[in-house]
Amino acid sequence: MTLQAVRGTRDVLPDEVAAWHKVEAAAHALFARYGYRELRTPVFEETELFARGIGSETDIVSKEMYTFDDRDGSTLTLRPEATAGIVRAVIQHNLMNTDPALRVYALGPMFRRERPQKGRYRQFHQVDVEAFGFTSPTIDAEVIELALAFLGACGVVRHELVLNSVGDASCRPAYVATLQQALRSVAASLCADCQRRVETNPLRVLDCKVPEDQAVIDTLPRITDHLCAPCGEHFAEVKRQLELLGIPYRLSHRLVRGLDYYVRTTFEVTSDALGAQSSILGGGRYDGLVKALGGPDIAGIGFAVGLERLVSLAPAAPAEPRCDVFLMPLAEGALDDALRLQKRLRAAGLRALLDPEGRSFKSRMKQADKLGARYAAILGDDERKRGVWTLRDMARSEQRDVTEEQILDHLKERTNG
Ligand code: HAM
Repeated sequence: MTLQAVRGTRDVLPDEVAAWHKVEAAAHALFARYGYRELRTPVFEETELFARGIGSETDIVSKEMYTFDDRDGSTLTLRPEATAGIVRAVIQHNLMNTDPALRVYALGPMFRRERPQKGRYRQFHQVDVEAFGFTSPTIDAEVIELALAFLGACGVVRHELVLNSVGDASCRPAYVATLQQALRSVAASLCADCQRRVETNPLRVLDCKVPEDQAVIDTLPRITDHLCAPCGEHFAEVKRQLELLGIPYRLSHRLVRGLDYYVRTTFEVTSDALGAQSSILGGGRYDGLVKALGGPDIAGIGFAVGLERLVSLAPAAPAEPRCDVFLMPLAEGALDDALRLQKRLRAAGLRALLDPEGRSFKSRMKQADKLGARYAAILGDDERKRGVWTLRDMARSEQRDVTEEQILDHLKERTNG
């Protein structure tokens, strides 16, 4: 049997890559405008980072991580998300010391052993944005606005922002106790996973997607009715600023998200066009995480966009041009002139190609067509005698005699823009 990509992974083929370049370029350009700088962290980390950061009772940590023993006995994990690794890097390099208002972003592959389906992969890519050291609700609104601006820059405008507050260490424990009490009395009617969660991590019940459980879950106490005064005020101000910025949202008290580090604001952006895996991006505030991972007590907030999902929603990107000029050395010895010219053209920033196999004129014209070449430059016996090339405009089927210098000048002029 021929070898195949591993289930849940996929190749981005050359014809698809323009769409990826487009969203990556939009990320770099837009995030810079908001003061964010790129940070690159390793693809694998010590397993403990994710267990402590994301929470050992979450699906991600308990079921979905690619974990392996290294030869020295340490346990490593392919990162299932970017936030924990970024927080580790911020602590390790004391980034807050030099930059107390730290805004960073990262791009790259993540790994989760989920059941593959449309829009859900085992290796997928995220653009991840994080801001450290800000406690004000203004940054919550700014980060959400940035997330939507990024989708807009990628041409994705039909979506819904879902918003919640999950409280903090001063109000959530009491809410979780209330929730757990309520859950114990209905546990028998819930799915097996939820029955376990009632005892291990009651908030996770709110994530449950099992259809039969939904009616019961809807009757449970709601976190937004149990926020302490500071959390309530914070949330009210986030909502007020979103309204000020003209950003519509839908409140959902069940948006607890699949990672344990969140406090206060959580949000997701969904799109009907994605099918069952409808979340384009998700994020929220995680004020205790840096401290929990051994760093200073600083606030954090961010989001991550799934790039496979974003690319599938973005309008088709025009194919990237592949060839400005296709050189056709036909005469005896013309290859040497063509190789020299090809090098000069490339050095001048032009996309120059030739057929190193030296096939027939007809075959070379076909190749030039296929590559979408704007020009073909032909050097046959006749041209060679006269010291010129024939430069053919492929779209117009017009041609004229030009010297090597003229080719360079002409192409530089025509292909700038
Ligand atoms: P998340 O909600 O787990 O959050 O993932 C964010 C996005 O990654 C999702 O909305 C989805 O688009 C994409 N995604 C997740 N899993 C898959 C998958 N198996 N296949 C394809 N796409 C997927 C986080 O990862 C948090 N670290 C976000 C964050 C950053 N919160 C604060 N800062």
